[in-house]
Amino acid sequence: MVMTLLAVEAISRSFAGHTVLRDISFTVQAGESVGIIGRSGAGKSTLLRCLNALERPDTGRILFEGQDLAHLPEKQLVLLRRKIGVVFQHFNLLSSRTVAANIALPLEIAGMPKAQRQERVAELLHLVGLEEHARKYPALLSGGQKQRVGIARALAANPALLLCDEATSALDPETTTSILDLLNQINKTLGLTLVFITHEMDVVRQLGHRVLVLEQGTIVADGPPADILKPDNALSSVKGAGYVASYS
Ligand SMILES: Nc1ncnc2c1ncn2[C@@H]1O[C@H](COP(=O)(O)OP(=O)(O)OP(=O)(O)O)[C@@H](O)[C@H]1O
Ligand SMILES: [Mg+2]
Repeated sequence: MVMTLLAVEAISRSFAGHTVLRDISFTVQAGESVGIIGRSGAGKSTLLRCLNALERPDTGRILFEGQDLAHLPEKQLVLLRRKIGVVFQHFNLLSSRTVAANIALPLEIAGMPKAQRQERVAELLHLVGLEEHARKYPALLSGGQKQRVGIARALAANPALLLCDEATSALDPETTTSILDLLNQINKTLGLTLVFITHEMDVVRQLGHRVLVLEQGTIVADGPPADILKPDNALSSVKGAGYVASYS
């Protein structure tokens, strides 16, 4: 049975009179993996921040599990955000905490008892293949290992949705492949829904069931990567085609 996890309904956002998101609507089904592509400044990160309610749209609704993220009071958002994990390009790890302590942080904030926390951290270390590095500090890790910590931390509270903003952009091609394999495994075996931003068309092909093309704050295409990334498709009549053609 198809279940809608996220429904973005006509959201717009401006900064100082400059419209960054314009009448954006799309839905994401539970278990789906959706890529967002578009030129620098198109509004991708702003859109992703709206999906986590770090940014509020000026108009429109964002329904996540039936609740409107765009209008929910901050207090309720704190609880809802635990169901939405975020992975960043530059990992955003705390240098003064070990790998295990970085992963445990969201669980500490959520008030999980220590024994339960340790059990969950051990599961996550296993999932991302970092058991042997649990006591290391981030400075001693490679970029790929740091991103595995970032992914484990994002998954700590068992989210229903994982948002990735250029999660592999700081990594070499080989490490990118291993992180994509991990994200694919998380999507397929855990059934976790993914929404990810990327500038790499290979990432869209390997990870996305669907791709949205954003152009100056508007969605100009929405469909399977095999259709959208075809150089000679119907998209050639829309503005986003230039971006796709120049990167694929
Ligand atoms: N808090 C803010 N205040 C003012 N302008 C902002 C703010 N956040 C984003 N913008 C503007 O919104 C536009 C879109 O930015 P955004 O970061 O969403 O783009 P992007 O598609 O993620 O680009 P990139 O691929 O370079 O990461 C830019 O013009 C940016 O300057
Ligand atoms: Mg961005």
